[in-house]
Amino acid sequence: MKKIIKNGTIVTATDTCEAELLIEDGKITQIGSNLSAVGAEIIDAKGCLVFPGGIDPHTHLDMPFGGTVTKDDFESGTIAAAFGGTTTVIDFCLTNKGEPLKKAIQTWHEKAKDKAVIDYSFHLMISEINDNVLKELPQVIEEEGITSFKVFMAYKNVFQADDETLFKTLVTAKELGALVMVHAENGDVIDYLTKKALEEGKTDPIYHALTRPPELEGEATGRAAHFTGLANSQLYVVHVSCAEAAEKIAEARKKGYDVWGETCPQYLVLDQSYLEKPNFEGAKYVWSPPLREKWNQDVLWNALRTGQLQTLGSDQCSFDFKGQKELGRGDFTKIPNGGPIIEDRLTILFSEGVKKGRISLNQFVDITSTRIAKLFGLFPKKGTIAVGADADLVIFDPNIERVISAETHHMAVDYNAFEGMKVTGEPVSVLVRGEFVVRDKQFVGKPGSGQYLKRAKYNVNSQLTQSQTLSI
Ligand code: URP
Ligand code: ZN
Ligand code: ZN
Repeated sequence: MKKIIKNGTIVTATDTCEAELLIEDGKITQIGSNLSAVGAEIIDAKGCLVFPGGIDPHTHLDMPFGGTVTKDDFESGTIAAAFGGTTTVIDFCLTNKGEPLKKAIQTWHEKAKDKAVIDYSFHLMISEINDNVLKELPQVIEEEGITSFKVFMAYKNVFQADDETLFKTLVTAKELGALVMVHAENGDVIDYLTKKALEEGKTDPIYHALTRPPELEGEATGRAAHFTGLANSQLYVVHVSCAEAAEKIAEARKKGYDVWGETCPQYLVLDQSYLEKPNFEGAKYVWSPPLREKWNQDVLWNALRTGQLQTLGSDQCSFDFKGQKELGRGDFTKIPNGGPIIEDRLTILFSEGVKKGRISLNQFVDITSTRIAKLFGLFPKKGTIAVGADADLVIFDPNIERVISAETHHMAVDYNAFEGMKVTGEPVSVLVRGEFVVRDKQFVGKPGSGQYLKRAKYNVNSQLTQSQTLSI
């Protein structure tokens, strides 16, 4: 079915203009004015912005963690993502030491197929580098199109890899054309601090933050960046929460290292004091890295504005308060880490960023979509509005005012981290490959319609292109 989107303002990472879009066979085939096509459905986007669908580079859907499993799976998680204007997610495929990578990837395919309502891809966790892993990795890239590897520097005795593994992963990724992602916190020192806190009877949620101080995120970020420089490789630091880590990324970039940084909505608008909420409610705000002192928010906003941090991920990792977060009553180390953010990622950045003059509208598109597509080998199929690109589009009302609440969100969890927050802007309709998934704020998609995306290899030169103009 052909479609023409009229009367909207088209926004890409570089341009903003009044134009119409013709969609045929899931692709954008014309951008211009007075477009017509026999049999095309006309979609009126009057008063709305039209931008490329968000790409969430950091989700944990249906993931076992902290003695439980995340509440949102590929169905509820991608439905919520779509309501929030996200049309692609890249989820973390966990691996187990000694197990073939293929098996882990198959497990993740099983989780997603028949459920995802938007397109999806996987990053691969690396927990060890040995001959078997080295033999399998080229196939992972060529056959599965998985071109990003994740190494955890924290979560001792669970996910944490040692420095040798991180360094070997960086060297291997350079050879194979993959981007290495790190969770950068010093897991060994955190382990010491948490044990000491428990021994001293400090069991409340706030001690989660106090035992993971920003110095340990800064130290790990700097270490990973040094290794990257030494290996002449490429690095993407996930969920940057504080000045110490943002500074290390900026320093590395100044040296010319190929180092990139992602932050998340929670670090931009919430702070450490939320962990002190009474009646154990602080557990809702337990993330690793933790929420930081409020002044860090300005540092993160400035880093996004000046390009020292380049992307926004949700780090969607949702657990109910009742029955899941509550596992940590009396012992903060047993609170499952993470929160439900997938749905509000774009709105928070738009409302708090664009509307408040902290970033431009074009930066908003770059940070939530275009840059992510380029870093993770999806551009220009995804991440932009251009002839030939997939028609993954968000029709967004930039003026609507609303209040975020668990009562109206679409995630499967029993709370919203931004409960009661007044925001401006909301996706009205969302299309994936030219088909509506959300239409006039109603879900019209189909579980299983999301397609698995094989991604291109990491290429530093394609990160350096600045312009992608609308051909009108
Ligand atoms: O607290 C968090 N961030 N949970 C998700 C797992 C991770 O470390 O990204
Ligand atoms: Zn992490
Ligand atoms: Zn995460």
